[in-house]
Amino acid sequence: AHVVAEPCFNCKYTDCVVVCPVECFYEGEAILYIHPDECIDCEACVPECPVAAIFHEDNLPEEWKPFKELNAEMAPQCPVITEKKEPMAGN
Ligand code: SF4
Ligand code: F3S
Repeated sequence: AHVVAEPCFNCKYTDCVVVCPVECFYEGEAILYIHPDECIDCEACVPECPVAAIFHEDNLPEEWKPFKELNAEMAPQCPVITEKKEPMAGN
């Protein structure tokens, strides 16, 4: 599955959610999460993120490895997001 990592924090550009064919992005307060059981690894979202926050779980930079577990844990607890919205202030 693909994973949303650190660069999304306090950004949430949300360009990614619009292109996902299976609507597997979920919205946390300061970051988005991808549900690992729903992501089909189509890669459509990867080039859409202006801050390059999305990685295949096998390609996560070492320091962001914990985001794999974080996405898996948090996605099921958050509301689905399928439409673009204003990025967070300060970015
Ligand atoms: Fe959605 Fe494809 Fe990105 Fe997975 S890789 S989150 S299926 S757009
Ligand atoms: Fe976050 Fe990038 Fe999507 S900043 S909301 S992963 S477009």
